[in-house]
Amino acid sequence: MAREMKRIMVTGAVGQIGSELTMALRKKYGNDNVLATGHKTQPSPTLRDSGPFEFINVSKRETVDAMIKKYNIDTIYHMSAILSAVGEKNPQLCWDVNMNGTYNILEAAREHNLVRIFVPSSIAAFGPETPRVNTPNDTILKPKTMYGVTKVAGELLCDYYVRRFNVDVRGCRYPGIISYETLPGGGTTDYAVAIFFEAVKNKSYKCFLKEDTRLPMMYMPDCLKATFDLMEADFSKLKHHNDFNVTAMSFSAGELAAEIKKHIPEFTVTYEPDFRQAIADSWPDSIDDSVAREEWGWAPDYDLAKMTADMLSVLSKRHAEGKLNY
Ligand code: SER
Repeated sequence: MAREMKRIMVTGAVGQIGSELTMALRKKYGNDNVLATGHKTQPSPTLRDSGPFEFINVSKRETVDAMIKKYNIDTIYHMSAILSAVGEKNPQLCWDVNMNGTYNILEAAREHNLVRIFVPSSIAAFGPETPRVNTPNDTILKPKTMYGVTKVAGELLCDYYVRRFNVDVRGCRYPGIISYETLPGGGTTDYAVAIFFEAVKNKSYKCFLKEDTRLPMMYMPDCLKATFDLMEADFSKLKHHNDFNVTAMSFSAGELAAEIKKHIPEFTVTYEPDFRQAIADSWPDSIDDSVAREEWGWAPDYDLAKMTADMLSVLSKRHAEGKLNY
């Protein structure tokens, strides 16, 4: 019989995904049963006041072990990572946090016999030699960024722990994630969040990618849905474990701007590509997620039009109330 997930730790809980994931987990499993952990950034009052919060350093194993013992943790969502753009500025830090962090979480799961862990991968696992359109699940993985290198190595390491040590570890390859609660930090797909805040606040945006660069994307509610659905899937039915393609939509900056203009006609965008353009150019245009659909029933709810309408409605309301924190 599958053991239950009862005492959960989220790493990277102050980050874009981790912050909303923590709140969703607290709703599902009870506030006191979900420990949020961060590195240095202070948590929001919502995160801090709704349940336990601790600072750890995932690349220091003892700090992970101390929390597992203190809170009797049986399940970990390992969301802490250095993303692609910051990773290119500081590849050594990226390796340390992403690789040593993942290794420490896996070793902790093995030694403490944890019930289940989630370690996400990314579209950054792909590279320029990968088929670019409708990228298959099982394909060439030769990324050119340090972030991508750590994601491919992380996928392989997780799969090793499944086969060699029977650790129940799962993960999907997130595309760019769009959300309004916590801003993303240091990624290449971050423009797709910033553009909404600027559209609402200033009616103009200077984009760091070219107008026609298409990338796979997903709205936060679908990101949380993918994460929960995969964590709740029957392990015995999974043929893959840590490398599921998942997607919801693909668009270029120009296509996103056109969709925003349907709501804010005066919105204008200028394009000034920087070093992140080369990163985006090495990633897929669109993703085939049929393996996730077959093995655990993945299906997204939000397309470009629905996501854009929702983002703008929330952000416009906040702006009108003077509560747009940007
Ligand atoms: N959103 C991430 C990044 O841009 C991709 O996983 O780095």
